[in-house]
Amino acid sequence: MASNSHFLVLCLFFISSVICQVTEFISIDCGGTGNYTDPRTGLAWISDNGTIMNYGKSSEVEIPDENIQYRRRRDFPIDSRKYCYTLGTRERRRYLVRATFQYGSSGNEDAYPKFDLYLDATKWSTVVILDSSRVYVKEMIIRAPSSSIDVCICCATTGSPFISTLELRPLNLSMYATDFEDNFFLEVAARVNFGALSKDVIRSGDFPKL
Ligand SMILES: *[C@@H]1O[C@H](CO)[C@@H](O)[C@H](O)[C@H]1NC(C)=O
Ligand SMILES: *[C@@H]1O[C@H](CO)[C@@H](O)[C@H](O)[C@H]1NC(C)=O
Ligand SMILES: *[C@@H]1O[C@H](CO)[C@@H](O)[C@H](O)[C@H]1NC(C)=O
Repeated sequence: MASNSHFLVLCLFFISSVICQVTEFISIDCGGTGNYTDPRTGLAWISDNGTIMNYGKSSEVEIPDENIQYRRRRDFPIDSRKYCYTLGTRERRRYLVRATFQYGSSGNEDAYPKFDLYLDATKWSTVVILDSSRVYVKEMIIRAPSSSIDVCICCATTGSPFISTLELRPLNLSMYATDFEDNFFLEVAARVNFGALSKDVIRSGDFPKL
């Protein structure tokens, strides 16, 4: 009985997240060759090829993470331009924005990419690849200033700038509200899964997905 009710709860989470993802979640497989539903998570991923991003090129990852999204990445030219993804938002609604980066190429470590990430005109973070097989995750929570936000990549100091995935998740009500949010954004410092057996990020049908 206990295990039955556990199962039921998981199914409800699964169904509700699949429904809200259809209307509101945006999951972009940067460099991906087509749209698909990831069977591991039930999330719909769209490729950025041509429709969302017209610059850069899709590169195959030599040592990809096991998730489908990491088989290819999008590499941008090495210049001083900003390459931006425009994501539709609802003004003043809060969102979690997540960008991930897995370089996945071997070669000279000194030439691993190091570049900047911007949200609109604000510098969000510097992405520094030290371990080619690791998935680097940058997350922030923002209150959308208008009907869209731009996530931009630019200014490589080494290597060529790239991105693996970009996700947008609306958050409801006052979750994560702060007094400063119209001028600042909240950056996720760490997500720690205390007592976890592995350091892998948990993202499967087992949890309501954000
Ligand atoms: C947010 O609220 C809307 C409307 O009440 C609901 O449809 C949606 O599923 C909620 N989204 C999340 C992520 O909880
Ligand atoms: C992928 O999905 C996006 C968004 O729904 C759509 O604009 C695009 O045309 C689709 N691409 C393909 C190859 O079906
Ligand atoms: C989109 O895919 C086609 C075919 O795979 C490729 O030739 C083209 O360069 C891609 N466009 C972008 C912007 O990556």
